[in-house]
Amino acid sequence: MKFDVLTLFPEMFEPIKQSIIGRAMEKSLIDINLINIRDFSKDKHKKVDDTIYGGGAGMLIKPDVVYDAYKSVKTENSKVIYLTPQGKKLNQSKVEELAKEEHLILLCGHYEGIDERVLEKIVDEEISIGDYVLTGGEIPAMVLIDAVSRYVEGVLTKDSTEEESFSNGLLEYPQYTKPKEFEGMKVPEVLQSGHHENIDKWRRKEAIKTTYIKRPELLEKVNLTDEEKKYLEELKNNKD
Ligand SMILES: C[S@@+](CC[C@H](N)C(=O)[O-])C[C@H]1O[C@@H](n2cnc3c(N)ncnc32)[C@H](O)[C@@H]1O
Repeated sequence: MKFDVLTLFPEMFEPIKQSIIGRAMEKSLIDINLINIRDFSKDKHKKVDDTIYGGGAGMLIKPDVVYDAYKSVKTENSKVIYLTPQGKKLNQSKVEELAKEEHLILLCGHYEGIDERVLEKIVDEEISIGDYVLTGGEIPAMVLIDAVSRYVEGVLTKDSTEEESFSNGLLEYPQYTKPKEFEGMKVPEVLQSGHHENIDKWRRKEAIKTTYIKRPELLEKVNLTDEEKKYLEELKNNKD
């Protein structure tokens, strides 16, 4: 999977090159290529932004520099994503869908954003990371790269993503590591039993419970067995 990031601040991407993503880069499972939009300025002062027609605060990134940066990396299979608070909110199913792409070009705005004409010309999809406004698209691009890379084959083992929050519509069950007892709190017996069927049952129930407590609206889209529906009813009755 190749990410080409069009940005005015490539140095902001240093933190993403650590840990799991860094190792995935070393193994060439993913490739993160940073393109400085400023390099495409024809201005002798390397200017890339200008005042906004019609007035208003701040500066806007000019269309020609973005277009030239885009042309320098675009291929037949590339998909261009503009990170913007106006886009569709990123969620797990979108992350998994994007992980199937070969080549993503991520366009990061800054200042007041980017001239609308170049957005109309090159952008395939607009994605937001939440209903708030950040100073630039760099952190959103890193969020997207991190989340998508986890689903690129070989970056993580399949087990690591299969039962995680959102992957089956539920939040993940609680997990424990050593020591067996911490501040008087013990690891549930069943998890130490080695009985895989019982462990799976316990985890599924706990996932339903966790989801019910933290994000009950997610349960509307989950297929529960009759037994699980009964369990959910019990949880609801206990709450009331
Ligand atoms: C200050 S914002 C511009 C906001 C724009 N004037 C508006 O009101 O929609 C500068 C840049 O940050 C990025 N950005 C800000 N908030 C974002 C969010 N929630 N999700 C994705 N990108 C965001 C976009 O690339 C945007 O062009």
